[in-house]
Amino acid sequence: MKKILVTGGAGYIGSHTVVELVAEGYEAIIVDDFSNSSAQVLARLKSIICREISFYQGSVSDKEFMNRVFEENHIDAVIHFAAYKAVGESVQEPLKYYENNVGGTIALLEVMKENKVDHIIFSSSATVYGMNNISPLTEDLSTSAINPYGYTKLMMEQILTDLALAHSDWSVTNLRYFNPIGAHESGLIGEAPNGIPNNLMPYITQVAVGKLQELSVFGNDYDTHDGTGVRDYIHVVDLAKGHVLALKHNLENKGVAVFNLGTGIGYSVLDMVKAFENVNGVKIPYAIKDRRPGDVATCYADASKANDILGWKAEKTLQDMMRDSWRWQSSNPNGYEG
Ligand code: WQD
Repeated sequence: MKKILVTGGAGYIGSHTVVELVAEGYEAIIVDDFSNSSAQVLARLKSIICREISFYQGSVSDKEFMNRVFEENHIDAVIHFAAYKAVGESVQEPLKYYENNVGGTIALLEVMKENKVDHIIFSSSATVYGMNNISPLTEDLSTSAINPYGYTKLMMEQILTDLALAHSDWSVTNLRYFNPIGAHESGLIGEAPNGIPNNLMPYITQVAVGKLQELSVFGNDYDTHDGTGVRDYIHVVDLAKGHVLALKHNLENKGVAVFNLGTGIGYSVLDMVKAFENVNGVKIPYAIKDRRPGDVATCYADASKANDILGWKAEKTLQDMMRDSWRWQSSNPNGYEG
């Protein structure tokens, strides 16, 4: 059974990926420092997977700690999720983001090299397309960044690419996520942002559950079908399954590969509000506010490369995403707390 180290495996996308890895016969080992996740996730995962998951609490930046993880386990590949991801916070605290995201990745890669592990799947983001206003976005487009968070993703992709170019034995897969939403069908794991959500979907579900009063719609004067921002929302379970297929490809190939993981379909903010209300029968009060700095009008994927090479395609519908998001939030009004 191949052993896969999942850094940030107690997080939103990491935990869903652990479920799919185990379902496909891999053994997952989680490393997480709980800086943006909860220990409760481990108990929830055990309920879903029906067995214990190997877990180490600590930071990928701690090389002594990480060396122990590699010495105690024969790791075949690493899926690297561990990173801070709040765009606004990255603008306020850039050093914290560069040290944790970029510094942590370099430390991880050094430990991997020392332990002769040279297969890695990296959690990148559509944010590396910067202010490209030419959706659908393809992997060959130029990349850029507009905030420190985006720069850390760009730098981590570049570090991994240069490493694979310098050492032909390495297998690097950069996965560019679009907008992950939804939750596992059990309602046991889901998105649990710290504090007030930055992202649209958790904000909608917290309004629905009564934790927040109303949704602020950031601008209705964009060049889109209804004036509100259009994004490519992808079910987190589809995203997780994409990681498993990317891992299979990574284990069978050397070099660097980059894939968009999106649906190729764009929905506006008001499309999302209406879909949530229709599926779940819960009204979402909203108010139109000014645009949010840094937002683009439209951003959605051309996901054909992942389909052609990995045999992956998002299967869940917008209705599935709305239903599963609500099941998680309504069952866990305070996320993993209490
Ligand atoms: C989606 C749309 C907003 C909140 C970000 C990161 C990206 C990735 C996914 C990590 C936009 C509008 C939002 C709200 C709103 N994260 N909106 N009111 O900005 O596309 O991407 O999350 O990898 O890197 O940049 O996602 O959910 O914040 O916004 O009107 O309260 O919803 O303007 O049009 P975004 P989002």
